[in-house]
Amino acid sequence: MRVADKGMIVTGGASGIGAATVERLVAEGARVVIADMNDSLGHSLERKLEGRARFVQTDVSRTDSVDAMFREAEAFCGVDGVFNNAGIGHQAPATDYTDEDWLRVIEINLNGVFRVARAAMRAMASSGGSIVNCASILGHVGQSQTAAYTAAKGGVLNLTKTLALEGAAAGIRVNSLSPGYIATPLLENLDPQLLEFLTSLHPVGRLGSSQEIANAALFLLSDEASFITGTDLLVDGGFTAGKS
Ligand SMILES: NC(=O)c1ccc[n+]([C@@H]2O[C@H](COP(=O)([O-])OP(=O)(O)OC[C@H]3O[C@@H](n4cnc5c(N)ncnc54)[C@H](O)[C@@H]3O)[C@@H](O)[C@H]2O)c1
Repeated sequence: MRVADKGMIVTGGASGIGAATVERLVAEGARVVIADMNDSLGHSLERKLEGRARFVQTDVSRTDSVDAMFREAEAFCGVDGVFNNAGIGHQAPATDYTDEDWLRVIEINLNGVFRVARAAMRAMASSGGSIVNCASILGHVGQSQTAAYTAAKGGVLNLTKTLALEGAAAGIRVNSLSPGYIATPLLENLDPQLLEFLTSLHPVGRLGSSQEIANAALFLLSDEASFITGTDLLVDGGFTAGKS
């Protein structure tokens, strides 16, 4: 058991990478709060995990919602680790973006990560803990039609470093992980030809699975990563290694 009796929060924990991470953490002994907007998926995962996880409906774009979720998590399991994973996509050329399109992505993918990390650092101030922010390969490289997403994910990478510096004295580790393209509902609306092209950009010749990202999140959240802070772990099948 790699996180036995630890209390964990996974934002965006009802679907895709987040749900796989919730299941992996529970399998390794943790109690987990599933913090997500999606009521039906969240409750169904809670039922599946039979008392080891609790769904708390949460909107990371609202401070009152995030802070209320942390209060519930403190009561249910305590807060030893947080996977700051909720996120959305938006595909359009930059010239077609409305202000609302831009702000919505930044509000969830960057401001939401800050809000959750701030609450986590307050909760962990006397006990220490581990925060893992979900960035992306698209925080490291640009990609057409993803202006807000790439800006937000680039912001997450550098925010992580600053929070790691601020948290170090209190024993709070802060890292990010950067998935390549992963087969989850986030990719459902992509044009199939584009998806085939994106798949071909991974030297390993396939998309990643949610479980492969969950394995990395588990490692960074666990004490096995006790000397790792302020860094980013790329889990991308070689996407960012270069061209072969
Ligand atoms: N799938 C990929 O290819 C990929 C690649 C790199 C990074 N990521 C990142 O991984 C994370 C998870 O993505 P996924 O692929 O599992 O997507 P997903 O759509 O399967 O899951 C995202 C979850 O976030 C929740 N969510 C959305 N807005 C929210 C809000 N305001 N408050 C709380 N929860 C909210 C959704 O309800 C959903 O359950 C995201 O941060 C995403 O940017 C995904």
